[in-house]
Amino acid sequence: RIAYVNGQYVAHAQAAVHIEDRGYQFADGVYEVCEIRGGHLVDERRHVERLVRSLGEIRIALPMPLAALKVVLRETIRRNRVRNGFVYLQVTRGVARRDHYFPDPSTPPSLVVTARAVDPAKGEAVAGEGIAVITAPDNRWERVDIKTVGLLPNVLAKQAAKEAGAREAWFVDREGRITEGGSTNAWIVTPEGRLVTRQADNGILRGITRTVMLQVAEQLQLTVEERAFTVAEALAAREAFVTSATNFATPVVRIDGLPIGDGRPGAVARALRENFHSFAE
Ligand code: PDD
Repeated sequence: RIAYVNGQYVAHAQAAVHIEDRGYQFADGVYEVCEIRGGHLVDERRHVERLVRSLGEIRIALPMPLAALKVVLRETIRRNRVRNGFVYLQVTRGVARRDHYFPDPSTPPSLVVTARAVDPAKGEAVAGEGIAVITAPDNRWERVDIKTVGLLPNVLAKQAAKEAGAREAWFVDREGRITEGGSTNAWIVTPEGRLVTRQADNGILRGITRTVMLQVAEQLQLTVEERAFTVAEALAAREAFVTSATNFATPVVRIDGLPIGDGRPGAVARALRENFHSFAE
């Protein structure tokens, strides 16, 4: 495998950033995960736009012009011969002697890009069965709309999920409302058949998959409500599911050990999943 690291394509096993990289010391950086399907990036434009926004919110300069960045993404995919899988891209504020203040403006941001093949059949099998989630207090900062690499609360919540035999943790805010998953957006279908996902404010990441699924839902003439929903509402829902670049739509069949709906993957999640790639760019 080959990784792109600050201007060079290097063997993945030897790929490294400096110990004084601000991503390493302060989680001072942002990232994107983008699907590769049939050798092409899915929703590249939206992912790049969100990257630009994340960088702007924390005042990191673009590591290179966007046209060059897109070349690097393609070249990384090509060199790894990935047909189906994911690209990971990370930009940090660069390498400088440890000091909380921003480094000198001449310090170039660090850019790392990797690409990895994933067998699509694996995700299909998981979606066919549905996943279990647990709930966990949303103890993150108030700017989770920025896709930063500061993911410690997400790591701890997802590990707790794993140890409880679940795949995802749904964060719950102080008002008892679900915000999103550790690495996914959260959705339910109410007993009346309305599709509900939290409004995209500073309390969730505005998932690219979420945006596309809202378009799919419109096309399927589903009633959509972008609003917060409680754990109680989720437990009483007809169905529940998660979305992300790596999950598309994956049904949730248990929350905190309790079955959702009939305890099997729901029809809405399946329909959204099946239609996703015809709406993605
Ligand atoms: N996670 N919410 C959080 C906290 C996320 O980390 C992600 C993505 C999403 C879904 O966003 P999108 O639809 O754009 O993938 C929502 C990526 C896949 C990850 O961290 O691996």
